[in-house]
Amino acid sequence: MNNAISNNFLTKDELFYIKKVIESEINKRKSFDSVLNGQDVKYNLSEYTVRSSDMGRITLRNLPLTKSISDKFFKYAKEITGLTDLIKSGNVFAEYNAKYGTPCLMPHYDVGEPNVLLDYQVYSNIDWPLIINQKEYLCKDNSVLNIYNVSQMHYRVPKVFNNNDHLGVLFFNYFSPSLKINKTISDQDFNDIAKEVTVCQKNLNQSA
Ligand SMILES: [Fe+2]
Repeated sequence: MNNAISNNFLTKDELFYIKKVIESEINKRKSFDSVLNGQDVKYNLSEYTVRSSDMGRITLRNLPLTKSISDKFFKYAKEITGLTDLIKSGNVFAEYNAKYGTPCLMPHYDVGEPNVLLDYQVYSNIDWPLIINQKEYLCKDNSVLNIYNVSQMHYRVPKVFNNNDHLGVLFFNYFSPSLKINKTISDQDFNDIAKEVTVCQKNLNQSA
């Protein structure tokens, strides 16, 4: 289960198109607040912008992207993982911004079936590294990183966002029937890391 970053992934026109879709969907969708990232509601979440102040972010499920863009990510996901049985299971856009709350992403595993996730960075004006199984990855705009998000612990390095700091990422989820859950971090280590990161984030917030 390797992770890799591929830079300059989309063409200028494709990136421009994605940004336009995001802008238009944010303007079009009604929004609501949820501390559970929308898991506590029964609405069709693809019609809403979900704001999670505890994570300082908004999320929009299932952006209407063109087939050619969606296929470009799909093809890459199969190439980078070597999994030929991948099945598309939707996309989610997330923007972290202090205007939405306190941006943070604590150590966690995503829940559900064995999954592959492509994490595509759309825009940012900050560096905000992602840690996957204790290894740091710094993405740039228009770069894509693959994560086995159900098996690999992941989080963002604690950071205080100043006004106007922001980072927008687009996640593509894929399910693989042949992929098995394979957690290589012990529960004890996971708990220790989670505690440490939580304290660090708390201290940063207090000193900000
Ligand atoms: Fe996650």
